[in-house]
Amino acid sequence: MNTTMTHRLAQRLIEAGGEVISGQELADEFGISRTAVWKHIKGLEEKGYSIESVRKKGYRLVQLPDSLEPVAIQSLLKTETLGKVIEYQESCLSTQIIAHQLAQEGTPSGTVVLTEEQTAGRGRLARKWDSAHGKGIWMSVILRPDIVPHKAPQFTLVAAVAVVRAVEEVTGLKPAIKWPNDILLDGKKCTGILTELQSDADGIQAMIIGIGLNVNQSMENFDESVQGIATSLKMASGREVNRQVLVRSILFHLEQYTELYLKEGFAPLKIIWESFSVTIGKPVLARMANETLEGIAEGINDDGVLQLRTADGRIHGIYSADIEM
Ligand code: BTN
Repeated sequence: MNTTMTHRLAQRLIEAGGEVISGQELADEFGISRTAVWKHIKGLEEKGYSIESVRKKGYRLVQLPDSLEPVAIQSLLKTETLGKVIEYQESCLSTQIIAHQLAQEGTPSGTVVLTEEQTAGRGRLARKWDSAHGKGIWMSVILRPDIVPHKAPQFTLVAAVAVVRAVEEVTGLKPAIKWPNDILLDGKKCTGILTELQSDADGIQAMIIGIGLNVNQSMENFDESVQGIATSLKMASGREVNRQVLVRSILFHLEQYTELYLKEGFAPLKIIWESFSVTIGKPVLARMANETLEGIAEGINDDGVLQLRTADGRIHGIYSADIEM
């Protein structure tokens, strides 16, 4: 079957917003027979779309499948560039690996990689990232901003702010950010962000922002090793959350904040980030590769570097660490 046609038909039904469209209208619009329309509808039903056939009237989309397929994301997406190209795989090792490959092949800025499941999802500091099938958002966004490489960590903070805004908007929950990039609900981690770069002597060629958001897991979906520290939006809100709506909202806010950053620099984003932060002003333990420092997290500087004041009054710039509070 012609999958592009099935895709276009799905898009048309989604955009109809639950209204009935007649088989004849669809046939005329796409230049195919009514029997062909019916076959594509059957194809969509096999993929998990729930479509009502209203006698003598036509077809009505009742429910989308719970998947992150491009058609489900792109139909109602309100962005200019983010997500215009989506690479979707049902299962993969890691969306970061796919994104690095696409970036090298010259994919445009704003390309998004989405999957239902990662078998080798990776986190910061070479840790494993638990990515259960269909339960979360496992996504990498490729951007090609014209900034110097040492400003790249700021983008992790921009992405964190975008995810917090999206979670607030879609669920009403109030997440907090733990420096640099952990998003917490009730003190437990629901999101991690991993920013990786492709750069050369000319500067940044691509920035790959990996976002892992726990959405509909129950406790038993998490590996035992993280059960004490991880949570999902469903566990925090008591309700299933629609992943498609959430992906669209994250992409929308990420695009808005990226534009703000490119126009006005990090200063306005720093203020928003600090308003969501649970780290600032608190006593923390910063575990780094070679040493552990204890002190008060005074704030972040204009490069997004954590400023830690130790008991002797000295301020230490922390670039990468695990923070305990
Ligand atoms: C962290 O350690 O907090 C960062 C976790 C980042 C996980 C995401 S899931 C999508 C993307 N693909 C990966 O393999 N990792 C990132």
